[in-house]
Amino acid sequence: MTDTDATRPDPADDATPGFVTATRAFYDAIAEDYADLFRTEITGKPLDRAVFAGFTELVGHGGRVADLGCGPGRVTAHLASLGLEVVLGLDLSESMLAIARRENPGLRFERGSMLDLDLPGESLDGVVSWYSSIHTPVDELPRLFREFHRVLAPGGHLLIGFQIGDEPRRHENPWGHEVTLDFQRRRPEPVQELLVAAGFTPVARIVRAPAPNESTEQAMLILRKPAREEQS
Ligand SMILES: C[S@@+](CC[C@H](N)C(=O)[O-])C[C@H]1O[C@@H](n2cnc3c(N)ncnc32)[C@H](O)[C@@H]1O
Repeated sequence: MTDTDATRPDPADDATPGFVTATRAFYDAIAEDYADLFRTEITGKPLDRAVFAGFTELVGHGGRVADLGCGPGRVTAHLASLGLEVVLGLDLSESMLAIARRENPGLRFERGSMLDLDLPGESLDGVVSWYSSIHTPVDELPRLFREFHRVLAPGGHLLIGFQIGDEPRRHENPWGHEVTLDFQRRRPEPVQELLVAAGFTPVARIVRAPAPNESTEQAMLILRKPAREEQS
């Protein structure tokens, strides 16, 4: 990974899948409004904080973690505050990254797609995908989960959060911006099955009731890449 993404090619070239281009355009348009809405959200979500705390203990104090699909960096900052070594926050959206850098000048944020990480294999102790897989079509999830598995060291942990449901929710013209995007909702069990198929071992499958600002149950899965001696 280069020190600055200014030298990196624009990820939205001709080979970029349409869903990636659409996701990036959506979050570029809404970044400031999204950041304002969610900036302090974690303080009102004690169970989510408990999951981050448990994840931190599993990874180990000082463990190397990446926040993939970091948006404005609020979770990245929270992970750092818990004592993890946050190697980077990564996102498609340059507008999200501008906010993340502005609000967290001590942390490193890079542009890129988590489907194709510019990170060496086995270089991380933890990967967090907090509501960032929700724009990836289901047939692309195996590729995404193999990429998470590749960059984790044996014994490393993955935390993935997402909304539970069976149908996507379409967000049209949020805050008056002329963009539209589908937010996938999924059942935790099939997502876990895909993660197991990618090589992960389940550690926790947490479902919590919707908070007042949510319309559906929320899933948080923690999985572990088997230690070398556990791998066949
Ligand atoms: C709902 S937001 C969540 C942001 C952040 N994790 C949070 O909790 O505030 C989804 C984020 O994932 C990012 N994202 C979606 N697909 C991505 C991909 N393939 N690679 C990198 N970022 C992605 C979007 O750009 C967006 O910033």
